Amino acid sequence: MAAAAVVAALLAGCAGGSDGSAAGAPASTAAELPAPAQRSPAAAPAKEGTPAAAAPSKPGSGNADSDKAKSDKAKSDKAKSDKAKSDKAKSDKAKSDKAKSDKAKSDKAKSDKAKSDKAHSDPASPGVVVNKRRPLSPRDFVPSKLVVPRVERTVAAERVRLRPDAAAAVEKMFAAAAAKGVGLTLVSGYRSFEEQAATYNHWVGQYGDKAQADEVSARAGHSEHQTGLAFDIGQADGTCTLVLCFRDTEAARWTAEHAARYGFILRYPQGHHEVTGFSAESWHFRYVGPKIAAAMKAAGTATLEEHFGLPPAPGY
Ligand code: DAL
Ligand code: ZN
Repeated sequence: MAAAAVVAALLAGCAGGSDGSAAGAPASTAAELPAPAQRSPAAAPAKEGTPAAAAPSKPGSGNADSDKAKSDKAKSDKAKSDKAKSDKAKSDKAKSDKAKSDKAKSDKAKSDKAKSDKAHSDPASPGVVVNKRRPLSPRDFVPSKLVVPRVERTVAAERVRLRPDAAAAVEKMFAAAAAKGVGLTLVSGYRSFEEQAATYNHWVGQYGDKAQADEVSARAGHSEHQTGLAFDIGQADGTCTLVLCFRDTEAARWTAEHAARYGFILRYPQGHHEVTGFSAESWHFRYVGPKIAAAMKAAGTATLEEHFGLPPAPGY
């Protein structure tokens, strides 16, 4: 074989299979497949562990976290701001409500005090408080109506006159006492400004000085006898009339226990000189009405000053 023929025979044997099947394939078939190095990266399987395989990225995802954080912060800031506004509004309302409530209370207290002051200053009111520091106003006050109670008396009728409400209560109390075998008598009632001045001067003459007279008799314009609401009682048999030992009589004991039921209080009780300014008078009663009398008895309050929260009046 010629050398050229030998080379051709060798080339034909290497390209075909052992069975020689590819031996007849067109030379162009292999030449049209892309070379491995030239294949698209997308066609190649991704390897585990590469960044692309661990966290596939989306378009634009590089700023998303930051935007979301900003949005969340804005929401949080707004929520905080809204809460602060709401808290402040609540706080302002609470303050405003309290201020309104305080003012209403204060106004009511002032109004109550004004009413109370009027009731305790008006000489026509059963709640009037007359003492050494609280003169009648006007000083020459005269009750609009005075009547003579239909009870036993030791003096002229004109000296035991009282306001009608007080007189009616006296009649009831005297009748109740009589029913229990306790004989009472009326010793004095309303005294005008002039009569009180004469009474006080009588005691100044008796004692020889004003200091002692001031212990037992009010100066004109300062006596509750002038209101027509006050009176003095005695025991029907005349025992200890208007003197200290009257306190040991049946008349004194019975009235001290039952007078409140009829609207009376013992105005100058023992042991309260520093409040009332006067020595004890177990015979001097004052009409205040059943309501006040019952309240004082229930509370155990001895004086009008203490009951109404008024200052004591030990002197002028
Ligand atoms: N004996 C009383 C205090 C008066 O004079 O009113
Ligand atoms: Zn009296």
